[in-house]
Amino acid sequence: MPFINERLEANRDAIAKNRADSGPVRVSRFRFEPEAVMTRLRANIVGQDDALAAMESMLVRVKADIGEENRPLAVHLFLGPTGVGKTETVRLIAEAIHGNRDSLCRIDMNTLAQEHYAAALTGAPPGYVGSKEGHSLFDLDKVQGSFGKPGIVLFDEIEKASKEVTRTLLNVLDTGRLVFPSGNREIDFRNTLIFMTSNAGALDAEAHHHRYQRGWRRWLGLSPGAGDRIRDTALRRHFDPEFLNRIDQILTFNNLTDNWLDALLDIELAGLNKRLARKHARLTLSPELRTDLCLGYDSRYGAREMLRAFRQRLEPAVARALLAHPDCTDFSADLRGSEVVVSQYVE
Ligand SMILES: Nc1ncnc2c1ncn2[C@@H]1O[C@H](COP(=O)(O)OP(=O)(O)OP(=O)(O)O)[C@@H](O)[C@H]1O
Ligand SMILES: [Mg+2]
Repeated sequence: MPFINERLEANRDAIAKNRADSGPVRVSRFRFEPEAVMTRLRANIVGQDDALAAMESMLVRVKADIGEENRPLAVHLFLGPTGVGKTETVRLIAEAIHGNRDSLCRIDMNTLAQEHYAAALTGAPPGYVGSKEGHSLFDLDKVQGSFGKPGIVLFDEIEKASKEVTRTLLNVLDTGRLVFPSGNREIDFRNTLIFMTSNAGALDAEAHHHRYQRGWRRWLGLSPGAGDRIRDTALRRHFDPEFLNRIDQILTFNNLTDNWLDALLDIELAGLNKRLARKHARLTLSPELRTDLCLGYDSRYGAREMLRAFRQRLEPAVARALLAHPDCTDFSADLRGSEVVVSQYVE
């Protein structure tokens, strides 16, 4: 594929010509609408307003295409506890831009924790087995995207990466390029949105939050700002300043407290109903069952608890009802004792 930047050059001439034809002065090469992406994000992610607002600014900036040329389009680090929407946000962006939530190149840094695995990222150095082939974990199409759409890369659990891998990444963030040690190949990240996630500092911040909630500072109305300091200290413990310096924005995802349970339940139910629609069926939940599904939610495990309740308690009962009543389209789920019972819906 001729790389994006060559096509950009060609496009500049086209734009100049376009101006002569009195077309609009500026036409973005990107074929995605920040607003449409945000609608999808806001409908599916709860409790993370600040992070979503930052995503909106990022998308608008990318669409306007005014970033520096020799860098990735955007570099964000998502911090926060487990199961609060960090990976989901990136998947939803991929879905909104590329029409598929798997249209992203995800690198699990946990598997690269040992020094010698750095080769998996960049291919083996010259003289080593595999150096000629230049194998890499990166899926080129997903990294580089296309002329009208940015590629998306997600580095999960970035704090687990070895120093050597972090150094490789530093180069990518700096120059927008990853040159293989064999010297004969490079991957271009200049058309890429880079996301990194980490739980670093999440436990410390959580402990601080609890102390604050229980402590006298809250009653005096003193600000909980120390949470930011705790986060920064944790960040500095895990990452070099040069690395942090090259990140556009570091965003902290919030704990999903009980207040968000209702909204989470609605999102999961909407997802289930979308899948049921393919089988010409619809499901409603009784208020008692809703309350019961929310019981026992432990915010330390995040939204995955709700997913588990759906998968383990609700879905088997729904599946049984679908098979037992092949002609029925409307189902309702209720609680009988501690059992979930799904039956034909009657008004
Ligand atoms: N804020 C949220 N709003 C709606 N659903 C959410 C939210 N957070 C998580 N979920 C649901 O929980 C699932 C797990 O979330 P996700 O994969 O984003 O966790 P994460 O923050 O990346 O956690 P980890 O650090 O463990 O990887 C998602 O698939 C999504 O269905
Ligand atoms: Mg994740």
